[in-house]
Amino acid sequence: MQRIYFDHAATTPLDKRVLDKMLPYFTELYGNADSPHQTGRRAMAAVDAARDLIAERLGAKKNEIYFTSGGTESGNWAMLGAARARRKEGKTRVILSSVEHHALLSSAERLQNEGFEIVYLPVNEGGRVEVNALKEAITDTTALVAVMTANNETGVLQPIEECGELAHSHGALFFTDATQAAPYMPIDTSAWNADMIAFSAHKFYGPKGAGALYIKNGVRTEKLIGGGEQERGLRGGTLNVPNIVGLAEAYRLAIDEMAESNEKLQGLSALFRKETAKIRGITRNGDSENALPSVLNLRIEGVENTAFLYNMDLRGVSLAAGSACASASVKPSHVLTAMGLREREAKESVRFSLGKNNTEEEIVRGTALMREVVERLRG
Ligand SMILES: Cc1ncc(COP(=O)(O)O)c(C=O)c1O
Repeated sequence: MQRIYFDHAATTPLDKRVLDKMLPYFTELYGNADSPHQTGRRAMAAVDAARDLIAERLGAKKNEIYFTSGGTESGNWAMLGAARARRKEGKTRVILSSVEHHALLSSAERLQNEGFEIVYLPVNEGGRVEVNALKEAITDTTALVAVMTANNETGVLQPIEECGELAHSHGALFFTDATQAAPYMPIDTSAWNADMIAFSAHKFYGPKGAGALYIKNGVRTEKLIGGGEQERGLRGGTLNVPNIVGLAEAYRLAIDEMAESNEKLQGLSALFRKETAKIRGITRNGDSENALPSVLNLRIEGVENTAFLYNMDLRGVSLAAGSACASASVKPSHVLTAMGLREREAKESVRFSLGKNNTEEEIVRGTALMREVVERLRG
């Protein structure tokens, strides 16, 4: 029996069409995009085309797109680069939501060690930042406000447009980590009020280790990775041409096929909820009215998630408690505890993240296996 994969928020399989676009850039078109000769110029032409495509889809200018190694680097760069660049102006406060990914939380810790004052915004029980909390926290010395577009553990969407507007009214920059949202909603740089937006290819069937950071023209930032003059002198390192080509192709497909795949996911999610409703003591964590169509964070009363995940894995189902980056941790999820769940409740919670290639048969089979495991562990 084929394994079932319900962990698309951790990563997605590479789309074969994306691989086909990438392959020539590993072999015959192997040039260093910064080499001035023809071999290099052909590679640079592919990078240019990728940048054009992404800029066009984001409603951005070409020189506002910077290629990175993924969501973690983009998040680190946005946080550290912008905050450090603003210190000279006396802007020493950084505000971020308490449910951000560790890429941002760890950057905030580093900024704190450098003397920045860090403020974590609480979320309500649905997992959403309350704009009023930002109103109270923001000052005219705020360098940067960071609120993610959608959360990676609950799929909950954040009020980014309001947060961005409020940040700007106090002279602060606004950064949103769209790593989880990008596969399901078009990034719209004109509507989002964001100065910086991060995203990553492997969340939308592109290659791992490929991402981008949108930095609005006029925003000053310090570089994170020094070296050559690549990316307008702001991000050193030989351009990863196959990955950049893959990122652009995967993003193009994600946007072009978004309506269809969201509709499919909504159907799968409804079926999933119907099937799991047959199991007693299951509640959904997070605001279901404002959430991605792909993520369901469920609390299974009386069942510890580590035992549940282990047993599901043995039966051929891959899923997670939350962020893959934190899966080695024994601590309860910072996202769920910020939403008010007690430690025990957080440790009874699991994240199901569906993908466009999942089938109804997998949902029915996966939830039946789930019922079996839950009964066994409760028994
Ligand atoms: C919200 C969020 N930000 C950042 C990242 C890190 O992205 P990457 O794996 O591309 O470094 C992830 C990955 O899980 C994520 O979910």
